[in-house]
Amino acid sequence: MKATNIASAIFTLMYVVEAVRWSSGRQTLVRSQAMFDFEKDHLTEQELAAVHSEKRQPNVPKKCKTYPTDPDWPSEQQWEDLDSRLDGALIKSIPEASICYRNGSAIESAQCQSLTDTWNNSTLRISDATSIRSILFQGMTCMPPAYSAAFLGNKKGCELGGFPEYVVNATSVKQIQVAVLFAKEHNIRLVIKNTGHDFGAKSVGKGALSIWTHHLKDSEYIERYTGEGYNGKAVRLAAGIEVYEAYALAKKHGITLVGGEGKTVGYIGGYIQGGGHSPLTSIWGMAADHVLAIQVVTADGSFITASPSNNTDLFWAIRGGGGSTYGVVSSMVIKAFPQIKVTTMRFNMTTGANFTKEKFWEAQRAYVDNFAYYADLGYYAYYRIRHVNGEIFHDMTSWVAPNTSEVDFRVSLAPLFAKWKALGVPFDPIIQEYDNFSDGWADGFPQEAWSWTMRQASRFFPRENLVNETNRAVSFDAIQGVFDEGANLIMFNFRNPPGSDTIDNAVNPAWRDVLMFALMFVTWNPANSTEYVTQLSRNLTYEWNPRWKKLTRGSGTYMSESDYIEPGWQQSFHGHKYQRLYAIKQKWDPDSVFYAQNAVGSEDWEMREMILGHLPSQNSRLCRT
Ligand SMILES: Cc1cc2nc3c(=O)[nH]c(=O)nc-3n(C[C@H](O)[C@H](O)[C@H](O)COP(=O)(O)OP(=O)(O)OC[C@H]3O[C@@H](n4cnc5c(N)ncnc54)[C@H](O)[C@@H]3O)c2cc1C
Ligand SMILES: *[C@@H]1O[C@H](CO)[C@@H](O)[C@H](O)[C@H]1NC(C)=O
Ligand SMILES: *[C@@H]1O[C@H](CO)[C@@H](O)[C@H](O)[C@H]1NC(C)=O
Ligand SMILES: *[C@@H]1O[C@H](CO)[C@@H](O)[C@H](O)[C@H]1NC(C)=O
Ligand SMILES: *[C@@H]1O[C@H](CO)[C@@H](O)[C@H](O)[C@H]1NC(C)=O
Ligand SMILES: *[C@@H]1O[C@H](CO)[C@@H](O)[C@H](O)[C@H]1NC(C)=O
Ligand SMILES: *[C@@H]1O[C@H](CO)[C@@H](O)[C@H](O)[C@H]1NC(C)=O
Ligand SMILES: *[C@@H]1O[C@H](CO)[C@@H](O)[C@H](O)[C@H]1NC(C)=O
Ligand SMILES: *[C@@H]1O[C@H](CO)[C@@H](O)[C@H](O)[C@H]1NC(C)=O
Ligand SMILES: *[C@@H]1O[C@H](CO)[C@@H](O)[C@H](O)[C@H]1NC(C)=O
Ligand SMILES: *[C@@H]1O[C@H](CO)[C@@H](O)[C@H](O)[C@H]1NC(C)=O
Ligand SMILES: *[C@@H]1O[C@H](CO)[C@@H](O)[C@H](O)[C@H]1NC(C)=O
Ligand SMILES: *[C@@H]1O[C@H](CO)[C@@H](O)[C@H](O)[C@H]1NC(C)=O
Repeated sequence: MKATNIASAIFTLMYVVEAVRWSSGRQTLVRSQAMFDFEKDHLTEQELAAVHSEKRQPNVPKKCKTYPTDPDWPSEQQWEDLDSRLDGALIKSIPEASICYRNGSAIESAQCQSLTDTWNNSTLRISDATSIRSILFQGMTCMPPAYSAAFLGNKKGCELGGFPEYVVNATSVKQIQVAVLFAKEHNIRLVIKNTGHDFGAKSVGKGALSIWTHHLKDSEYIERYTGEGYNGKAVRLAAGIEVYEAYALAKKHGITLVGGEGKTVGYIGGYIQGGGHSPLTSIWGMAADHVLAIQVVTADGSFITASPSNNTDLFWAIRGGGGSTYGVVSSMVIKAFPQIKVTTMRFNMTTGANFTKEKFWEAQRAYVDNFAYYADLGYYAYYRIRHVNGEIFHDMTSWVAPNTSEVDFRVSLAPLFAKWKALGVPFDPIIQEYDNFSDGWADGFPQEAWSWTMRQASRFFPRENLVNETNRAVSFDAIQGVFDEGANLIMFNFRNPPGSDTIDNAVNPAWRDVLMFALMFVTWNPANSTEYVTQLSRNLTYEWNPRWKKLTRGSGTYMSESDYIEPGWQQSFHGHKYQRLYAIKQKWDPDSVFYAQNAVGSEDWEMREMILGHLPSQNSRLCRT
């Protein structure tokens, strides 16, 4: 059923922009619509009004969401009716690994073996309706048998657990609206899954109805977007677009987009709504800083535009306030930058032979000494330091120097290379210049593994921690310290450009003076004991991260790459912006139709069952506190 109402026609007229579209190699000038076709397929005002007036007397809010064992869970017939209103897009969840089980017992088969062998391939997991990466918090209730976690006391078996009951395979905004209204009316937990990359397992939930945005793949280049306060190149991306798809569009049109490094991460889902850092952040800031307009389905089922002149509070909140909180975003318009050249560098460094661990840390110190210098040149670096076979393995997966030639890059690094040479550091960097970011990114950031046996915590280290020599030494010791006690490290060196602290959006204010973003992570083997994995996990939250926090008081961390149970997350993720975010949540979603772990407003809810005694399980009932 296609909606063509007056409101949307007026809306379209107001937002007509000129766009260049490529079709079969020909460049044709077309007048861009304010919406994609899948968005024009939405409920009319009259249809929405009818739904609202049908509503029975206002419900007394229930203490908990409604679950399949509750008497008021929708009947089979009601689910069937829902499916027909969704034109058949409703899927009853079946965990992917169920092919490895029959009648509750693990079986061997070529299919299961192949699933086991490719379990770490994100492309495959993303194309499943319910698979998520941070499966620990789901309860790991249906894993390929080789990966079943004895430490959780799970019998090898396959239960739905914390996966949603039903999934809407969305291909239109109408379906999203119908799903939101159904979940609201029946008091059912609602989740949104885009790629399932989130480290906080935010795209699953026991007994939930899930909206799966993966197949919303529209995208378009807009040659001249005339929005409020901006007149220039832009792109419009639908909810299912992944980073690599956006960069391909950018390359095709000779533009640059401020996006993430992870190839298969969603662009306008959890990434941009959480703020979004980028290899280009040191020159252009956060991805959320460049959002020009947002199309979103809100908790009452309305489909609206949030922009600098319309629904401005929502526009403010969605740009950094977090996914799955204010609505289901169907598309965004994002500012595009001109094509720039980039130089990238990759290298590995391993201790062993005469390159001792002491020398390694000396080499690291020499590098961190100049973090301010590199970031102020506009550079970005993403690297890891891990325990591998008793040695330290350091991989600079990519150092990116935007708008910088290879010659200039080498000149700027000559002092560091000289120091490393003097120290006898064995390393053999690959340095390459590209005349466009997309190609540099593609070589510099190969697809990352879908790793599920890990847990992490993180912290921002502001400029003042790294430019003052005394503070830098103390910070460095704290970082090396947690590594020496068993943690692994993921490190970023970048800044936000001068002036970005005045941008009025919901990006964590602590982002604006970061020079180093440090993550610690632990990994385990499915065969390890409950005691050991528990201790590893508890160390992150209660022993190690507090040391970093103590040195960075008043700063924070990045919600999308943080501890699942970050203590004081409101301050850490949002700083002084939290109160405003909470008020906007109350206004737009007073009944908590949207909920996610440690999302704005989630403190009003709780999940009582714990994994390893301290991690709230998504396989528990969600109830008001
Ligand atoms: C390999 C890898 C690389 C990464 N690289 C970067 C990086 O370079 N920079 C960076 O900043 N972050 C990075 N991240 C973190 C990433 O931004 C988060 O994991 C993010 O939450 C992923 O969003 P998603 O939409 O792909 O995933 P999902 O897990 O599907 O969704 C994440 C959250 O957003 C919600 N959501 C998704 N779509 C919508 C929507 N349309 N409307 C409303 N809510 C929605 C979900 O409900 C969930 O709460 C990386 C993560 C991984 C695993
Ligand atoms: C502003 O949003 C309202 C719905 O909240 C919508 O009806 C209207 O068309 C929007 N206007 C513009 C200019 O986006
Ligand atoms: C499952 O178990 C039931 C009862 O034990 C049996 O009748 C059925 O054949 C089994 N199904 C399969 C596929 O093994
Ligand atoms: C993925 O797993 C396979 C074996 O199952 C392994 O060979 C491969 O190295 C892994 N890939 C990554 C990136 O970890
Ligand atoms: C992951 O799976 C996709 C889809 O089957 C495939 O194209 C890709 O080569 C795989 N990646 C790896 C690293 O095996
Ligand atoms: C989801 O919808 C897309 C687009 O219609 C379709 O290609 C895909 O097969 C569907 N997936 C499932 C699991 O139904
Ligand atoms: C670093 O090591 C990894 C894994 O051992 C390897 O795949 C990669 O190619 C190496 N990178 C460089 C730049 O040598
Ligand atoms: C890129 O560098 C040139 C000087 O080499 C400068 O003029 C230009 O402003 C820079 N562009 C950006 C986006 O920083
Ligand atoms: C280790 O030995 C090699 C070869 O003898 C030498 O080039 C290098 O400088 C030495 N490194 C250190 C750290 O002493
Ligand atoms: C991107 O850069 C690479 C390396 O400089 C070059 O080979 C390629 O042609 C460039 N592509 C575009 C579209 O500019
Ligand atoms: C460095 O910071 C310490 C406090 O941590 C302070 O006492 C000292 O004066 C600072 N040094 C400089 C040069 O600012
Ligand atoms: C974890 O399991 C691996 C593989 O079985 C084993 O090698 C390792 O010793 C275990 N670690 C601990 C601390 O139990
Ligand atoms: C936890 O941290 C303590 C130091 O605080 C350390 O002694 C212990 O080995 C760590 N345990 C694990 C499993 O990481």
